Amino acid sequence: MRRAKISVIGAGNVGATCAHWAAAKELGDVVLLDIPDKVGVAQGKAIDLACCGPIERFDAQITGTSDYKDIAGSDVVIVTAGLPRKPGMSRDDLIQTNVKIVKSVSEQIREYAPESVVIVVSNPLDAMVYTAWKATGFPTNRILGQAGALDVARFRTFLAWEIGCSIEDVTALLLGGHGDDMVPLVRYTSVHGIPVSQLLPMEKITACVERAKVGGGEVVKLMGTSAYYAPASGSVQMAEAIIKDKKRIIPCAAYCEKEYGIGGYFVGVPCVLGSGGMEKVIEVDLQGEEKTLMDESISHVKDLVRVVTEMFPELAS
Ligand code: APR
Repeated sequence: MRRAKISVIGAGNVGATCAHWAAAKELGDVVLLDIPDKVGVAQGKAIDLACCGPIERFDAQITGTSDYKDIAGSDVVIVTAGLPRKPGMSRDDLIQTNVKIVKSVSEQIREYAPESVVIVVSNPLDAMVYTAWKATGFPTNRILGQAGALDVARFRTFLAWEIGCSIEDVTALLLGGHGDDMVPLVRYTSVHGIPVSQLLPMEKITACVERAKVGGGEVVKLMGTSAYYAPASGSVQMAEAIIKDKKRIIPCAAYCEKEYGIGGYFVGVPCVLGSGGMEKVIEVDLQGEEKTLMDESISHVKDLVRVVTEMFPELAS
């Protein structure tokens, strides 16, 4: 049987950690690609990671490279190339630099891995997914952004800490943009089927929501650079669902036309992920404030896309 192939663009913190999770889960062969100036870093990390194989017991070929020919035949390409957020910087501050990077990376993916499903991680996420879509020209089911997988994991973690239960028993749902823009759906959040509102007072749930929203910023402040373990873990969770055709429901930045009345933008929504990439957007019923927050989030995504298309008119059509 042919092994799956996962390519990771950007061999920095998020990229190398994606390679690590993908190899540890034995999802397939892994290619770690960076710019020519950093090819040594990509190659060194690839060798270092490959040498974990005998200990962790995974069989996978791990390649470090700066040559896009090496991504040929990838099932999934995870894009982490770009500058990470520095303290005091918003994701939006990164926009100009990272659009240029993600645009050039996407053009290479279009050429060398034209059948792949692309998972974008670079920030500002909602703008970068749009950029990857336009620059690859891929059908919308093969372009996804990783945001919800991470945001929901943060929310579940903080709730489990507060309740004092296993994180495995906490199931949560959220929509909308990444981080500050997320729309938590407390009504759809439960602990082994028990609505979370029966286990925690509303102010504690709200505190968990707020902490999940600024979870990225909290880590940036502490470490001086953006988070990478959980963003990489979320990305590889999506890659695994696609490679194994698991039909998992994971919140992702996915293209929505009629869904949620979004009208042709990539917004965080629960999706079914399988071998076809994004196979279905799941629409849940929204009420009152949930709907207001979702509308605000959609409008922020539209603003970001407007900024991108004003800076780079070639991405408008
Ligand atoms: N092609 C390939 N790799 C590139 C390119 C490019 N055109 N431009 C930059 N890179 C590489 C950098 O050389 C670096 O090795 O992307 C890598 C980014 O790694 P880090 O600086 O460690 O950043 P990281 O923390 O991994 O974050 C990457 O993910 O979560 C987001 O906000 C985060 O946008 C940021 C991205």
